[in-house]
Amino acid sequence: MLGNFSYCNPTKLYFGEDALENLIVELAKYGNNVALVYGSGSIKKNGIYDEIMDILKSAGKTVSEIAGVMPNPTVHKLYEGVEIARTHKVDFILAVGGGSVVDYAKALSVSIHCEEDPWEKYYARFEEPVCEIVPVGVVLTMVGTGSEMNTGAVITYPEKKLKIGHVFTDERIMPKFSILNPRYTMSLPKNQMIAGIYDIFNHICEQYFSGEDDNTSDYISEGLIKSVIHSSRIAIKDKNDYEARSNLMWSATWALNTLVSRGKSTDWMVHMIGQSVGACSNATHGMTLSAVSLPYYKMIMPYGVRKFARFAVNVWDISPDGKNEEELAKEGLSAMEAWMKELGLAMKLSEIGVTMEMIDDIVNGTLIMEGGYKVLSKEDVRKVLMQSM
Ligand code: NZQ
Ligand code: ZN
Repeated sequence: MLGNFSYCNPTKLYFGEDALENLIVELAKYGNNVALVYGSGSIKKNGIYDEIMDILKSAGKTVSEIAGVMPNPTVHKLYEGVEIARTHKVDFILAVGGGSVVDYAKALSVSIHCEEDPWEKYYARFEEPVCEIVPVGVVLTMVGTGSEMNTGAVITYPEKKLKIGHVFTDERIMPKFSILNPRYTMSLPKNQMIAGIYDIFNHICEQYFSGEDDNTSDYISEGLIKSVIHSSRIAIKDKNDYEARSNLMWSATWALNTLVSRGKSTDWMVHMIGQSVGACSNATHGMTLSAVSLPYYKMIMPYGVRKFARFAVNVWDISPDGKNEEELAKEGLSAMEAWMKELGLAMKLSEIGVTMEMIDDIVNGTLIMEGGYKVLSKEDVRKVLMQSM
């Protein structure tokens, strides 16, 4: 049964090859002192930077740049951005990049006018902002996180070996608008493309593998996952297939804009373990998830066997004839494993730079969530990690 919920999604999306044409109209609604936030240079190589600078100039904006936002953005980079934004009296933030740049822009938006230390307030104590929030707009160049249409902002504190995602409840933190042109994602290296694809897939799994009730959200999830699997197989053969890239982009947004979690419980333990792996190793987000997923799902499967059997039949089209739930559940996970290998995802933590010396810190840094089929102990987390080494 669907539980009580509210749903509000104020981000305006512009999708398609001509989506950037709408930037100038949107910019007119916001302040003149724009912070242009971007990563380590991909937008300069593929020409997006020049296009956007031209539009900002014709809109008459004063632009200050916050460049070099790294994958898994750090709190130190956040402090640096706050200084720049305060100096230039920034009243609008334009994020151009992937999830790291968009998350960073959101964290910046609630930190510029914050009188406290943003790490302590938002990431240690998980408080909501009470200060003015600087509005954020997005031009997305990498598909996966869903950050273009949610309130999440993940920040890493490398010295503390913590990578923390704050999913704010304040809807004002959502981007005011997001511009999604699937062509922009075509310059992504293959390993980033497949990491993003697995991120989408896992976001859906995190919300699907929880609860035993009958609810619309799970049916939407099954449809989304099937679309992701189908398009992924086309995209890995031809990275320039616009149809596949556009379906992946749109699925990613719906996978994590809160729709498929409405009215149901959710798990999120693959992400909790993956984020701790990321804090200790700085590995690519999607690969941290792929490396721990199968040991984790094999561990929890006996506690949610009915849903895993449904996953096998409804997502992987496995015939239920003459099979019990456990047999079906195992076949579903085998089909998932085969697809992951077909994509070329990291299947072991050792493939992404994790060493035995890191295991204690990863266990310590893993937050335990209680919405899944089994509440993990820290020893369970260790077992999952060890099975991936
Ligand atoms: O820095 P640049 O030069 O832009 O290069 C980036 C980066 O190296 C590159 N890239 C992006 N677009 C490109 C491109 N290269 C060529 N052509 C393009 N069009 O890709 C690399 C990875 O970018 P990044 O933004 O780090 O990837 P992603 O979108 O996967 O974001 C990962 C971050 O998002 C967080 C993760 O934890 C991680 O910190 N997440 C945010 C979530 C949210 N807000 O709800 C949920 C997710 O589960 C996730 O935790
Ligand atoms: Zn993710």
